[in-house]
Amino acid sequence: MLSSLYPLARAQLFRMDAEDAHHLTLRALRAAGRTGLAKLLAPHVPDLPRTVMGIAFRNPVGLAAGLDKDGGAIDGLAALGFGFIEVGTVTPRPQPGNPRPRIFRLPEASAIINRMGFNNSGVDQFVENVRAARYKGPLGLNIGKNADTPIERAVDDYLYCLERVYPFASYVTINISSPNTKNLRQLQGADELDALIGALKDKQQRLADLHGKLVPLALKIAPDLDDEQIESIAHTLLRHRVEGVIATNTTLSRAAVTGLTHAEESGGLSGKPVFDASNQVIAKLRKHLGDAVAIIGVGGIASGEDAVAKIAAGASLVQLYTGFIYRGPTLVGECVDAIAHAHAPVI
Ligand code: FNR
Repeated sequence: MLSSLYPLARAQLFRMDAEDAHHLTLRALRAAGRTGLAKLLAPHVPDLPRTVMGIAFRNPVGLAAGLDKDGGAIDGLAALGFGFIEVGTVTPRPQPGNPRPRIFRLPEASAIINRMGFNNSGVDQFVENVRAARYKGPLGLNIGKNADTPIERAVDDYLYCLERVYPFASYVTINISSPNTKNLRQLQGADELDALIGALKDKQQRLADLHGKLVPLALKIAPDLDDEQIESIAHTLLRHRVEGVIATNTTLSRAAVTGLTHAEESGGLSGKPVFDASNQVIAKLRKHLGDAVAIIGVGGIASGEDAVAKIAAGASLVQLYTGFIYRGPTLVGECVDAIAHAHAPVI
């Protein structure tokens, strides 16, 4: 039902400013989640159970971070059939993000450029929203740093957020790959990453003792990394026994969109143009990691076939964002079906 309505809704939404459309959609999802309407309208998505990072997933197709930064629409989103929902990125203190406009559609490329800059209501409000959700399925809580925290103090922001979100998370994502927070991607450097992950793993162990449950950590990385950097990150993940890695965030490259309207806007490019680069990162990670670390594949999935390609590259789970904006809720079931019928090896 919702599936057949989406092309209509999309035509209206795409006539609006991209961020206004985004807020309207979230408001509608929040309302639909509260009233139970979302469940009635949502397309049926078959079960395809997977256990990854010790977590049981109803199906391997999740919602990527950034669509619901404050975690206010979890129930509406969950009703659309996702096997898991990731919300955030959240920072310790509320912050407005970058000035608008800061989201741009590139429809010819089925892509988006965004430079939101972690606009969010802060971790206190985030935790309140997450606690109020009725959804009981796997929930990833994605944490970051405030724009005005010096990069040398970034670890304090991540530790603070980890402590706050830990009791409510199925897994916690450490986002060090947004291109829209100054110097954030520096944290992917070998020494910086070693220090950050070391501190977070220590804290995770202490929180596990305190709460009586071990919540896995997943590191979210950029697609704009060379082979040496990927290998170095993989070894850091192995050394510290990090449970998961999410590959990838948006790209700074504009190679695939040159000449298109908005192509020169600054920010991270997502959607079809990032698909190949993300898959290459996944394949290289898998080669270094063996099956010791779970890979969640994200970047440019716009069809069931694309989701299968991510699994074939080495991902155990996948996430959608830009493809979901362009294709609507039908994409979730299409991806689950395609993965169910593919004969790719399951890692
Ligand atoms: C994002 N993404 C993102 N990722 C993250 O870890 N924290 C965030 O706050 C955001 N915010 C955000 C906003 C917008 C408008 C977009 C389009 C994307 C990145 C997202 O989760 C995903 O990694 C990339 O977009 C690549 O996947 P898709 O969009 O090509 O499926």
